[in-house]
Amino acid sequence: MNYPLTHQLQNLIGDIKNQPFVDNSIVANIVQSHKLATKDVEPFMLFNHSNKESYGRTLIFDNGNFKILLMSWKAGDFTAIHNHGFTEWGCVYTFGEATHRLYEIEQNELKLIQKDNFQAGQIASVCGDLTHMMGNASSENFVTLHIYGSNTRKSNVSANAKVYVPEFQKVVTTMGSAFLNMDKDLMLTETPINEINSEILYDYFCLVKPYYERNKNTNILASMEKYLKNNGSSKIKN
Ligand SMILES: [Fe+2]
Repeated sequence: MNYPLTHQLQNLIGDIKNQPFVDNSIVANIVQSHKLATKDVEPFMLFNHSNKESYGRTLIFDNGNFKILLMSWKAGDFTAIHNHGFTEWGCVYTFGEATHRLYEIEQNELKLIQKDNFQAGQIASVCGDLTHMMGNASSENFVTLHIYGSNTRKSNVSANAKVYVPEFQKVVTTMGSAFLNMDKDLMLTETPINEINSEILYDYFCLVKPYYERNKNTNILASMEKYLKNNGSSKIKN
């Protein structure tokens, strides 16, 4: 459904459109200057999303070279570990405290480099090779606004997103979605995953377990629990 955009959102979009060139600091400054409020994004909230989708994902705007989405996070909602494909610039504006993990790819291997949460009001920069996961490990619903853009592409700026799904031993590419346990028709390509170190896997399984519990995915849960039991918390460095 198309909802009318508030003046704040229209001005934000107009300001981005008016830039001859955009980078992460330009888009962050524009978002900062518009001070979006909950009422600007309320019509796009989607907490009653399908169980097949591990968070609410609503498109607010897309003109080909940039798009704006609202993600809605209820308790237990999480992304898989993912990057952002063709995205050249962008940001996430958080309306609540989001659990966040930041990774780095070093010689084809995933490294966990930061466990700091996103705080309400924070603007975090995004580009194609940013590899992270985020979600809601609290009991309160919240939303986050995501902007993905390109100075060179005219369509599908977030396509070719790489999504790591260790619970299925694979890495997939998508048009931009990073759902856990996602439908096959969202996957563009699929390859076997390289081994992921136990610290990352343990942390990841702990974060996504509530989503699989909520959806009663007993087979995935059984293998996840076996892994967690055999790889105790003593292995985890904070
Ligand atoms: Fe992301």
